[in-house]
Amino acid sequence: MAEFQTVARVGEIPEGEGRSFEVAGRMVAVFYVAGKYSAIYDTCPHMGASLASGYVENGGVMCPWHAWRFCVTTGTWLDNPKSTLCQPTYETRIVDDEIQVRIPA
Ligand code: FES
Repeated sequence: MAEFQTVARVGEIPEGEGRSFEVAGRMVAVFYVAGKYSAIYDTCPHMGASLASGYVENGGVMCPWHAWRFCVTTGTWLDNPKSTLCQPTYETRIVDDEIQVRIPA
C-alpha cells in the first residue's frame, strides 16, 4: 500500500486556491476550499493544462485554458456530470502542520 507523502505545510495553499505537486511520479492538484483539503489529478483531460492554476468557485475549478470545470473533491466534470469523464481523486490528510497526499499503488 502506498504511503502518504507530504506536499506542503498548512497555510501554504490559500483558501479557495490550488497548487500542483508531483507525488509518486504523478502531477496532483491540491485544493483548499471551505476549510478542507482535496486532491485530484492535475492534468486536464482536454489538452493537458494544470488544473491547480485554475479559478476556483462553488467547489469547482475552471481549467485555465478552455474553461472546462471539475469538482475539486470528486473530480466530476461539472460541465457534463452524466459523462463518465472524471478526474482521479486522491486521499489527503493533515499530520501536525503537513498536508499529505496518497497515490494508490
Ligand atoms: S486544456 Fe483544460 S479545458 Fe482545454
